[in-house]
This record gives sequence, C-alpha cells and structure tokens, in this order.
Amino acid sequence: MGDNGTEPRDTLTIRDNRTGRDYEVDILEGDVIRSMDLRKIKVEDSDFGMMAYDPAFTNTASTHSTVTYVDGGKGILRYRGYPIEQLADQSSHLEVAYLLLKGELPTEAELEGFVSDVTLHTCVHENVEDLLEGFPDDAHTMGMMVSAVSALSTFYPEAKNVHDPAVRWQQIVRLVAKMPTMAAYACRRLRGLPYVYPENELSYTSNFLNMLFRTEAKDYEPNPVLERALDVLFILHADHEQNCSTTTMRAIGSSHADPYSAVAGAMAALYGPLHGGANEAVLRMLERIGTPENVPGFIELVKTKKERLMGFGHRVYKVYDPRASIIKRTADEVFEVTKRNPLLDIALDLERIALNEDYFIERNLYPNVDFYSGMIYQAMGFPVEMFPVLFAIPRTVGWLSQWEELLRDPEQRIARPRQIFVGEDERDYIPIGERG
Ligand code: CMC
Repeated sequence: MGDNGTEPRDTLTIRDNRTGRDYEVDILEGDVIRSMDLRKIKVEDSDFGMMAYDPAFTNTASTHSTVTYVDGGKGILRYRGYPIEQLADQSSHLEVAYLLLKGELPTEAELEGFVSDVTLHTCVHENVEDLLEGFPDDAHTMGMMVSAVSALSTFYPEAKNVHDPAVRWQQIVRLVAKMPTMAAYACRRLRGLPYVYPENELSYTSNFLNMLFRTEAKDYEPNPVLERALDVLFILHADHEQNCSTTTMRAIGSSHADPYSAVAGAMAALYGPLHGGANEAVLRMLERIGTPENVPGFIELVKTKKERLMGFGHRVYKVYDPRASIIKRTADEVFEVTKRNPLLDIALDLERIALNEDYFIERNLYPNVDFYSGMIYQAMGFPVEMFPVLFAIPRTVGWLSQWEELLRDPEQRIARPRQIFVGEDERDYIPIGERG
C-alpha cells in the first residue's frame, strides 16, 4: 500500500485547485511524465491546456537516447555503456567513434574498414583553400571552421537526402575524416603557412599533427606521447549527451537539413565561452591572472561575481568532472615531453583554493573538462584560437551519433518549443507622423 492507502501504480495524480479536478498521468521509465499529458489540464474546454515552463531546458528530456550516459551526482560518464576511464585507457578515438556511431565496439575487421574509409576521405576540395583565403589574416579559426563546414554542403548536395541511411553514413565518414584537415588548414591560414596535405599512412591524430606542424624545411615527426595524449583528449570530448551544441545539432537535424549545415550550427553553439569556448577562455583567464600570488585576489573577484572562474562548474556534474581527472593525468604525461606549462601553477592554486571556499562548495563548483585541457594544447604548440576547434573535431562524432539516432527515432518531429507570450496585446498601427 502507498502512504495514502491506495495500491501503488505508475501514475501521478495532479489536482487542479482552480477547478478541484484530479488528473491521472502515466509515469514513464524513471520519474518522467510526458509534458503532453499536462495538456488535458484545463479550466475551460476551449483552453489550450497546461504546459511546463522550463527556460534553458534544465528539467526537460527531449529524447530517449542510447548514446551517452551521464550521472552528474556520481561523476559517471559512459559511452554506449563503457566507462570513459576504460575507453581513455584502452581505446583509440576512431574506435570510440565507431562505438558511438554504431552502438557496439568494432571487430578488428570492422575497425580496419572504418579507419581505411576515414583515411580515404581526409582530402578536401581545393576550393576550400580558396574559401579560407577570403578571411582576414587574423580570422579566428573557429569562425573559419563554422563557415568551411557549412560550405561542404555545397560540395556534397546529395547530403540533403537525409532519409537514406547509406547517404547518411557517407557524410558521417566524410565529416569525421575532413574535420582535422580543415582545422589544420584554418590553423595554417592563421599562421600564414602553406597547407600540408593529409598523408594516408599516418594515424588520425598523427596525420592531424603532421598537417599542423610540419614545416617545409624539415620533416615533422609527431611525438608518440603527444599523439596518444591528443587521442585521449579526443576520446574524452567525443560526446556528452544533450548539451547546448548537441541540442542545436538535433534541432537543426529535426528540420531535415543536411548534416554539414547541422554540424556548422552545432559548432557555432560550441564556440561560446560557456560551452566549448571555455578552454580558450580559461587560458586567457590564467594569462590575465599572471602569477600564483594573484590567485587569492582573483578568487575574491569571483566570489563577488565580478569574474567567472572559467573551466569550473557544470550544469550536470555536481562533483569532479571525470574527464577533468583524466585530463589532469594526461597533462603530467605531456609535460614530461614538452616544457611544463608555467600556467599550471596558477591553475593548481586556483583549484586548491576554490575547492576549499564555501562559495564553490555550496554551489558544487568543480573543475570541468575545459580547465586543464588548454594548458596541454598550449604546451603542444596549438595557438589559443585552436582550442575550441580541438573540442569540435571529436565532438563531431557525438553530434553525428545523436543526429543518426534522431533520424531513426519515430517519436521525433521538428523541434518547436512553446513560449509564454508576455508582450503587448493587440493595438492599432499609428502612422509615423502621428507618433509622440
Ligand atoms: N564561476 C563562478 N561562479 C559560478 C561558475 C563559475 N565558473 N559557474 C557557476 N557559478 C555560480 C553561478 O553564478 C550561480 O551562483 P548563484 O546561485 O549565486 O546565482 C551558481 O553557481 C549556479 O550557476 P549557474 O550559472 O546557474 O549554472 P548553469 O548550470 O546555468 O551553468 C555553466 C553551467 C557551465 C555554464 C557555468 O558553470 C559556467 O559558466 N562555467 C564557466 C564556463 C565553463 O567552464 N564552461 C564549460 C562547461 S564544461 C564543457 C562543456 O560541456 O561545454
């Protein structure tokens, strides 16, 4: 028996005190009700019916998903059921990409086939180079990337056929393959260096590093420790369920736009400093702080809301972000090869002081994935403008996995939230000469 003496059942009874009427709605899996079930709650038959107000979707599930599981209270992150720690330790980015996109870990033959497909599609049309030439010399690499990715839809017009699974897969392979090439081109454009074409015998990350850092004078040999570190960072960034950019990807995908346009939109959402632009913002913040002696003063500014501690806090994680713990370990490995990034001392001090301050404890603010990643990227030689791009390359896999899931989901329709209109009621147009 339940507390009210009735047989327990998976429904929720809602009493509308305006009318005294009771409504019973089904509880789905977990503690979830369908918002549409609220619609039957009305005072008058002609009313629209009850709806939920949820700015920023803080308590609204927009989909069922089998891709990524996050438990923000326990610090758990799993891709298709596999703990992120195991994947970061034992897998590779392309194997994780296959897992996210297909739902299962590949066999050896499947992985070989996927890697070979991706490798064969790394080249981009020469006109993409012309496109990049049109940007100002100091153009931000993320701005160039958003434009270049959306431009790809003009090179592959068949991508519009989003209802054909084979066409979809072809674009998925192209996007996974071409993102590093376009990112490297954008970076070299920023630095005023000639483009380096992809080389098929190199691994995904090694090829990327080669396209970025090889100079004309001498061959560049990617360091295996740095190559592996980048691969681990790519694994950690590959997906994170229904975040801002993924929600954008799904919203654009729900109108059946081609995936290049949708990924460009998702990248634009990622660019913001509250999301994937945070890694760049962290670096700029650490540079502004300058020395560990300035850390306590900066923390005071954060507590009085004059500053925001970039790389801290998360909508979902209320404990240490599991990705940040892995990144911290990876940083140690990278700094053994490169010079230790002097900004690390400032970051470690910020973390130590912040984690002992009531302001951060009460709000459950811990380092997130962006807090330490920028210092690794900087030590590896990436310009700061590349940091959000380094987030976008692996996240493309997550966006595409979620897009594929969306298009296969019969419950999904064009995304179209409601509003509560609080503007002016109807009023008559006043000719301009008669306005006060
Ligand atoms: N520094 C100082 N105060 C903060 C911070 C921060 N980084 N993050 C949250 N707070 C405070 C916020 O001011 C609020 O305080 P109060 O209750 O007094 O008004 C409280 O904590 C709750 O914060 P919120 O802004 O309501 O939380 P949110 O869930 O809307 O925002 C967030 C999440 C990630 C946007 C935010 O924590 C933030 O701006 N962090 C810094 C930017 C950042 O590192 N972003 C990367 C996120 S992880 C990578 C990714 O997935 O994109």
